[in-house]
Order: sequence, then structure tokens, then C-alpha cells
Amino acid sequence: MLKNDLILRAAQGEKTERTPVWLMRQAGRILPEYRAVRNSLSGFKELVETPQFAAEVTVQPVDILGVDAAIIFSDILVIPEAMGLTYEMVEKKGPHFPKTVRNESDIQLLKVADPSDLGYVYEAIKLTKKELDGRVPLIGFAGAPWTIFSYMIEGGGSKTFSKARRLLYSEPALADKLLDMITESTIGYLKNQVAAGADMIQIFDSWAGVLPTEHYSKFSLKYISKICDAINDVPVTVFAKGAWWALPEMKDINCRTVGLDWNMDPKEARKTLPNKTLQGNLDPCALYGSNELIKEETKKMLAAFGDHPHIANLGHGVYPDTNPEKVKYFIESVKELSSH
Ligand code: CP3
Repeated sequence: MLKNDLILRAAQGEKTERTPVWLMRQAGRILPEYRAVRNSLSGFKELVETPQFAAEVTVQPVDILGVDAAIIFSDILVIPEAMGLTYEMVEKKGPHFPKTVRNESDIQLLKVADPSDLGYVYEAIKLTKKELDGRVPLIGFAGAPWTIFSYMIEGGGSKTFSKARRLLYSEPALADKLLDMITESTIGYLKNQVAAGADMIQIFDSWAGVLPTEHYSKFSLKYISKICDAINDVPVTVFAKGAWWALPEMKDINCRTVGLDWNMDPKEARKTLPNKTLQGNLDPCALYGSNELIKEETKKMLAAFGDHPHIANLGHGVYPDTNPEKVKYFIESVKELSSH
């Protein structure tokens, strides 16, 4: 039994006694306690792949920051890895794929992930649920197929994503083939996360904003929609960073919650998406300000979401050099200002 199910009730569209709050990327480098665990290991991947440690850093922000949900510590890149494309996490630089996908024969070397390849994630979820002991719900997650596709083609981050976007023009059928494989892999993976105990699911489309609108519908939202149709037992959140133009289309997708980044207008989103819960959307940079400023900005944000079902969050992941005291102040401000 959950002692605090605010976020689940808000995700179901219910009015809650106060607004639930958590942060994207809350489990990570902002916490010295995370860095201590991470530094005792060989690196990021050992942390992701060792359930006992992954569970430990998943629970840290619940204890230290007082958030209303935990998010399982892992990475979206475990899916390409399970499909046959391994990644490295390069210190201070980010992910790197030594081999990338360029053509049909590269795709032929890949497989639809066998969900059992990611057993360490389900183990981490089970352990985390035990350690949380019902204090708050646990969020499972995956990357959206388009974002995963971008990493598999580009081999890492990119300024233009021109290799990934080029394929959508030059070989759309091949792009669809890979997107289909990623989608199928992700559905099996998320179903297993739910079976292991994830109480809700978030899909991160971090590179949504680089696509032209027509391509976004055809090559991203179509596949996100398939995933949402397949996950029926828990509420699903879709966060498409930068894709403000796609909000009207989100209305028809089988997700309960839509995440907003800080460029999106909550008031407009409320009109566009009357039946969805909204999540977001404070600029992560507001947390570099004084406590007074953080409270003021939080108040404005809460007012913009109004009475509409809302899960408070930042408009993207918390930046690693943010002072955890400021994060705590944001969380406390949401709790205080939204209590009726
Ligand atoms: O608290 C949480 O949100 C849970 C853990 C989580 C991580 N990655 C851990 C992580 C989640 C939900 C992710 C998702 C993820 N990973 C996304 C989507 C969210 C977003 O920010 O848009 C993306 C694009 C990735 C890929 C990725 N992983 C990048 C680009 C990087 C390097 C840059 C960065 O943001 O740190 C990572 C590494 C990563 N994933 C770290 C953590 C805590 C830092 C690694 C370290 O400890 O040094």
C-alpha cells in the first residue's frame, strides 16, 4: 500500500490536497551522496547494472529532497545496448556509441531486445520497491523511439542531428524499420518494468524539438502512440522536449500526462489538452536564483497551471551543478504554496 499516492491521483486527473512534485534527473550528480556511490565503482554502467546500487541512488532523493515520487536509476540507452549496440559513458562528456547505424546491413546486425536482457533493471525496481516500503510511487521510464534512433545513428549528442534527420528523407522505409524495432523493444521492456513494480511510466523524447512538424508526427509521435497503446496498467507520461507544436496531437494519444518544457505555456496547454494532466515546467536555471526568486517563480508557475490537474517539475532535467539546497527549497515551495 502506498502512503503517498498524490502523483498517481494527479496523473488520473483527480484533484489533490496539494500538487505533487518530483524532478527529472533527481537521482544523480546534484547529490554528493550519489557521487560517493558512483565514485566507489568503476563507472556509470556498473552503477546502472548493479541492482543494489541502482536502488540505493533511486531512493536517495526521496530521503534527502522529499520528492513525491522516485524514478528508477538507469538510462534510456540500455535499449540500444540490448538491441546489440553498446554504449560507453564518457566522463564529463556523455554517452558515446563506438559503432553506429548507417545502412540496412547495420540494422540487420541488430535484434529486437529480448526483455530478459534487461533483468538488472527489473531487479533494481523490485529492490527499490522494497526499500521505499510504500513511501512514494516509483516511476519507470524509457526513451522515445525517435530519441533512441538519434543516438544509434549519431553515436552521441549532436548540434544538428543531421545524420539522423537525413535518413528520414533519404531512406524513410529504413528509418521506419529501425523505429519499429526500437518500439517493439521498448514495449517489452516497459511491460516488464510494470510487472516488476513500476507504478507509472514516463517516455522521454529529449530530441523531439529538432524535427519538422510533419516528421514529428510520422517518425516520432506515431511510435510513442503505439507504446502508449500497449501500456495499459499504469498511467503514462509523455515528455517531448521542444515539440510545443505537437501538443494538439497529444490529445489523441493514450497517455494520461503530458510533460511541458519551460518554453511551453501552461495556460495554452490547458486549453489544448483539457483531458490530460500536465507536468512541469520551471526553467531549471531558476534554481540558480535566490530563495525569494525561487519561491516567486514557483508561485507564478503554479498559478499558470491553475486548477488543472498538475504534477510540478522542472521543464527538463535538473542541471548537475545545481545546489541541492535550492532543489529542496523548490520542493518545499511547491508543497507550501499549493496546499489548500
Ligand atoms: O533521476 C533520474 O532522472 C533517473 C535517471 C536517469 C538518467 N538518465 C541517469 C543518468 C534518467 C531518467 C535518464 C534519462 C536520459 N538519459 C535521457 C532523457 C532525459 C533527458 O535529460 O532528456 C537522455 C537524453 C539520456 C542520455 C544521457 N545519459 C546523457 C545525454 C548523459 C550525459 C549527460 C548528462 O545529462 O549527464 C547521460 C548520463 C547520465 N544518465 C547521468 C545520469 C545520472 C550522468 C552520469 C554520471 O553519473 O556521470
